[in-house]
Amino acid sequence: QHPLQLEINGNTYPTDSWTNVTPKILSHLGLNKHLQRDHPLSIIRQRIVNYFYGAYRNQRGNPLFSVYDQLSPLVTVQQNFDNLLIPIDHVSRQKSDCYYVNREHLLRAHTTAHQVELISGGLDNFLVVGEVYRRDEIDSTHYPVFHQADAVRLVTKDKLFERNPGLELFEETWSGSLADPKRILPSSKCMDQTKQPCHTLEAVKLMEHEMKHVLVGLTKDLFGPRIKYRWVDTYFPFTQPSWELEIYFKDNWLEVLGCGIMRHEILQKAGVHQSIGYAFGVGLERLAMILFDIPDIRLFWSNDSGFLSQFSEEDLQNLPKYKPISHYPQCSNDLSFWLPANVEIDAGFSANDFYDLARTIAGDVVEQISLVDKFKHPKTGKTSLCFRIVYRHMERTLTQAEVNEIHKHIADASVEAFNVQIR
Ligand code: PHE
Repeated sequence: QHPLQLEINGNTYPTDSWTNVTPKILSHLGLNKHLQRDHPLSIIRQRIVNYFYGAYRNQRGNPLFSVYDQLSPLVTVQQNFDNLLIPIDHVSRQKSDCYYVNREHLLRAHTTAHQVELISGGLDNFLVVGEVYRRDEIDSTHYPVFHQADAVRLVTKDKLFERNPGLELFEETWSGSLADPKRILPSSKCMDQTKQPCHTLEAVKLMEHEMKHVLVGLTKDLFGPRIKYRWVDTYFPFTQPSWELEIYFKDNWLEVLGCGIMRHEILQKAGVHQSIGYAFGVGLERLAMILFDIPDIRLFWSNDSGFLSQFSEEDLQNLPKYKPISHYPQCSNDLSFWLPANVEIDAGFSANDFYDLARTIAGDVVEQISLVDKFKHPKTGKTSLCFRIVYRHMERTLTQAEVNEIHKHIADASVEAFNVQIR
């Protein structure tokens, strides 16, 4: 049973017979794993964004695309479905597939939900990155919250036909009006892979060529220039024609992204009448699992430093392979000491010597050590260091008492070896 109303991000929403969000699902709002420093999803986000920044620049050399990565995932049924011409009886609208707040609001099921508002706001080249929510099976590759990046690029006739003036975006015979986009009709899948009736074949082919060129470029940027790929015809209610890009990975064809030529009704509704556009959407977890060799999608939600410390956005071009961590819990203890007078880090004392000492005493139950604080006393001039030592056993749970004893040994040995004074 649900409460009569839900309080989300400071707003109050009445519940109704459509409400099916759970507190557990709502707890993911605002976690923004795609913005968390050094998180693998943040690294993938930056790779995609940087690729688009590099692929499209204006005359001044500045990136053409703008990025929206903090839009609220709480959207309306209109944003998530109606604006995108998703038929009223489409399976993706079902209560069993989405997390509804009430009959009018849901947690976005794709980042495509923001297309129309951003285009209406005057944007013509943009990326949207954020988490999406879907009710789905549960296994190592499915989690009810995951992340997507979506892009839209709109081009005017003059730009598209720069080198072929005289060509047209729209068929001469087309009256300029389309079925009223406010009337969302039951599905009549139009699988015509050639083009929408309003567009000229020249316009669609040029746009398709540019889009595929850019998306293959992105795929090669991520997976290397030798990656094997193929285009597969598909259907999306909001693009026509539509494709999926698949890559060959570990003896299988894997779908990595969906894309297509935007339905002109959507542009018209957003007030754009003289452009043609392409759109694509890609799941970040899928990419990250392949690129970092991460075996389980739940790891992306882990706060375990044994997981998180393996990734760094310092070098975005070299992605490390994930090394499995122990299932047993971590236990973290801090050790603070004063260095002897006139000794400083790297001048009489080296952190690496301390790490070796800790390893010598504690062995592999030390998973990580980091210097979390350093400070010089204004009067005595002495330096104080604080190291955080994370303990974890590979085969069993360590007790706090056990950890305290090892920790004490390390402290005593440090006094002995480095002449430090424990604080
Ligand atoms: N929104 C689609 C999905 O979630 C992906 C997509 C975006 C396809 C934009 C075409 C254009 O699967």
